[in-house]
Amino acid sequence: MSKAIKGFTVWLTGLSGAGKTTLARLLEKELSKKAFQVEVLDGDEVRRHVSKGLGFSRKDREENIRRIGFLCQLLCRHGVVVIVAAISPYRNLREEIRAQSYGRLIEVYVKCPIEVLIAQDEKGLYERALAGELKLFTGVSDPYEPPMCPEVVLYTDKETPGESLYKLVERLKELGYID
Ligand code: ADX
Repeated sequence: MSKAIKGFTVWLTGLSGAGKTTLARLLEKELSKKAFQVEVLDGDEVRRHVSKGLGFSRKDREENIRRIGFLCQLLCRHGVVVIVAAISPYRNLREEIRAQSYGRLIEVYVKCPIEVLIAQDEKGLYERALAGELKLFTGVSDPYEPPMCPEVVLYTDKETPGESLYKLVERLKELGYID
């Protein structure tokens, strides 16, 4: 692990609605209390600014993820802890990002069965995807490749957000990123 680089990236991957944004915000609060400089890069938000105009084809998703990865590099270099909340469905792209992360990336699989997400459907997107109105929807009509060796797996259908946060923080301690 590079000692010169003080920042690190916590990369939350998982299906839409699995709880990535919620956990990112909870972790942000927790790490801010510990006096870290923290930045959250949330897929929905990034797509309104840096990735405006990109869609959900493989090419566009890859571009979106590469842009997020680039921002992580810049911010980490300056000591910032970056928390990413993006579906980031492709394993090879996530590995590409990891390879550029100075060995300071924690991949977190935010795991929730699709049946649960379809039942909750907070944004109504699953219903539209299942009706065929929304094309290329992750988990319905577009692939999601789960991580093979994530540093953490959070089971958001079984754990409360508080419990998932606790697990994540404990893992960051174990890995030596925080005290
Ligand atoms: S990623 O695949 O490129 O990583 P990202 O996390 O930025 O995706 O954006 C996902 C968000 O875009 C979802 O939470 C959802 O609100 C919205 N969205 C709109 N269309 C789609 C789609 N076809 N597939 C997945 N998410 C979509």
